[in-house]
Amino acid sequence: MDYNIKTLLTREEIETRIKELAKTIQNDYKGKDLVVIGLLKGSVVFMTDLIKEIDLPLVIDFMSVSSYEGTTTTGNIKVSKDISMNVAGKDVLIVEDIIDTGLTLSHIKKLFDSRNVASLKICTLLDKPSRRTVEMQGDYVGFAIPDKFVVGYGLDYDQLLRNLPYIGVVVHE
Ligand code: IMP
Ligand code: MG
Repeated sequence: MDYNIKTLLTREEIETRIKELAKTIQNDYKGKDLVVIGLLKGSVVFMTDLIKEIDLPLVIDFMSVSSYEGTTTTGNIKVSKDISMNVAGKDVLIVEDIIDTGLTLSHIKKLFDSRNVASLKICTLLDKPSRRTVEMQGDYVGFAIPDKFVVGYGLDYDQLLRNLPYIGVVVHE
């Protein structure tokens, strides 16, 4: 391999922060009809940790989307796997690995608005605020990080390294 991985966030730091996020979510969603939806594949590692720490009745689902530049500057979204339940009237929490340009989540927000959800919030493990091309804010953000390409805890480099139990920066030799 022609690259090294430099630790940015340790497993312990991530686990501690996930517990904090889960407790905040638990307080915010008491008595609500919570549906937690993970965006494949990057959110999977984070989401499994997160839901174990939320002591509420909740259901989970997954969808797979990719954003692409279309004829408009904001591009469009391709849903290659949709959720398998009706979310009308539900309190939906979207779980993502990282907010980068913000395009993916801005399209997701529009999509779920049209599905008449009771509420829609975004929970992301990582946020690269300096990279935004559209306005997008996470409601629950694990860590704001600098504009570096990161891997691990679900995030990939050419589909590999999702299983790293920490977040690292890819450093090319
Ligand atoms: P965006 O916010 O629409 O630009 O898309 C965010 C998506 O880009 C994330 O779900 C990741 O799949 C991917 N991504 C962005 N930054 C990184 C990174 O540093 N490492 C790995 N994947 C990334
Ligand atoms: Mg992704």
